Amino acid sequence: MKKAIIYGVTGQDGSYLSDLLLSKQYTVYGVTRRSSSDNTSRITHLLNINNFNLIQGDITDTSSIYRLLNEVQPDEVYNLAAQSHVGTSFGQPQLTWCVTAQGCLNILEVIRSMGNRPRFYQASSSEMFGDQFSIRNNTSLNNLQSNQDPYQDEQTAFNPQSPYAIAKLAAHHATTLYRNSYDLFACSGILFNHESERRGERFVTRKISRYVANLYWATQRGRSIPKLKLGNLSAKRDWGHAEDYVEAMWRMLQQDTPSDYVIATGNTYSVEDYLKEAFKCIDTNEYMDYVEIDQSLIRPSEVPYLRGISKKAEKRLNWKASIGFKDLVSRMVQHDIQSSSKHEENYTTT
Ligand code: NAP
Ligand code: GDD
Repeated sequence: MKKAIIYGVTGQDGSYLSDLLLSKQYTVYGVTRRSSSDNTSRITHLLNINNFNLIQGDITDTSSIYRLLNEVQPDEVYNLAAQSHVGTSFGQPQLTWCVTAQGCLNILEVIRSMGNRPRFYQASSSEMFGDQFSIRNNTSLNNLQSNQDPYQDEQTAFNPQSPYAIAKLAAHHATTLYRNSYDLFACSGILFNHESERRGERFVTRKISRYVANLYWATQRGRSIPKLKLGNLSAKRDWGHAEDYVEAMWRMLQQDTPSDYVIATGNTYSVEDYLKEAFKCIDTNEYMDYVEIDQSLIRPSEVPYLRGISKKAEKRLNWKASIGFKDLVSRMVQHDIQSSSKHEENYTTT
C-alpha cells in the first residue's frame, strides 16, 4: 500500500487527487493549515475514511514539513498548496512569494535531506507562459480562427505577467534544478486552467456559474438580482475539468523517469464565450444585460491567450482530456442550480 502526502488537500485539486489516490488504495496524508473557520468543505466526504488522515501544517514552516515527511516516509509528495488567485497576487505579492515559491523550495530541501526520498509533484502553471506562445504557419494573434495556432507546449518560452506567475516560475525552476542536481524524482505538471463543481468561488468560471444559478432561482421566484461584476471578458483560456487533470499528476509520478508535462485540452475560449455558454444553460441569450464591467477587476497586467498542446503527455502518459468545454460549463451550472435551490439566493457579484 503506497503512502502519499498532499499539500493543498483542502483545495479543488487536492480534494479530487485524494479521491483518486484513495480509489487506488493509497494511504493519504492531507495537510491543512489551521484556520479559525472550517476549510474542509471539499473533503467532508473523506473525513471518516480510515486511509485518509488530516494533518495540520503549512508549507511556509519547514520544521513541520521536515517532521511530517520523516514520520510518514511517504512514497509520493504532491505540492498543490499555493496562494493560487492571480488577481490577489497583485495585492499580496510577498505572501504569494512566500507560499507559492518559497513553500516549494522548503519541501524540496526536506526531500533532499532524506534517506528514502519520495517522488515529488509540483503544481506548475500555464500562467508562467504569460504573453508567450509558439506558432505554426505564421498565424498572427489578430488573425486567428478559433482553435487554430498559436499554442503553448513544453518548448514555449516563459514570460510571467503577475507576482503569482513569477512565484510559480521560481518553484518550477527549483524543481528542475533539484531533479538535475540532486537526482530527485521531481516532476512539474504545467497545467492549464481546470475547473469543476468544486472550483473556488472567486475564479471567473465559478463566479459566473453561481451567478447564473442564482439568476435562475430568482427568476423562478419572480425576483431580480444585481448585475454580475466582471473584469476582462476577452482573455482566452484553455479550460478543462479538474478530475481529468489530477489523473495526469498521478501518472507523472508512475513513470520510469521524471519529466515535465503540459496538461491541457488544446482548445481555447474567451471569458465571454464561457459567459454566453453558461447563460445558454438557462435559455438566456441576452447575457450582457446582466453584466457590468468593473474596472477594479481588470488586472494591471494580463495573460491574453492560453491554448496548451499536450502531445508529450498523450504519448508518454497515455493522457488526454475527456471533458470538453460545453460539458464543463453545463456541469458547473447544473451543479450550482441544484445546490443553490436549497438556499435563498446568495450572490457573488463582485
Ligand atoms: P486552490 O483551490 O486555491 O487550493 C490551494 C490550496 O493551497 C488550498 O488547500 C489552500 O488551503 C492551500 N494553501 C494555501 N496556502 C497554504 C500554506 N501556506 N500552507 C499549506 N497550504 C496552503 O487551488 P487549486 O485550483 O486546487 O490548484 C492546486 C494547485 O495547482 C495550486 O498550486 C495552483 O496554483 C495550481 N494550478 C491550478 C490550476 C487551476 O486551473 N486550478 C492551473 C495550474 C496550476 P486553504 O483551503 O486553507 O486555503
Ligand atoms: N477571477 C476573475 N474574476 N477573473 C476575471 C473576472 C472576475 O471577475 N473577470 C474577468 N476575469 C478574467 C481574468 O482577468 C482572467 O483573464 C480570466 O478571467 C481567468 O481568471 P481566473 O478564473 O481568475 O483564472 P486565471 O486564468 O487568472 O488563473 C487560474 O488558472 C491558472 C492556470 O492558467 C488559476 O487557477 C491559477 O491558479 C492557475 O495557475
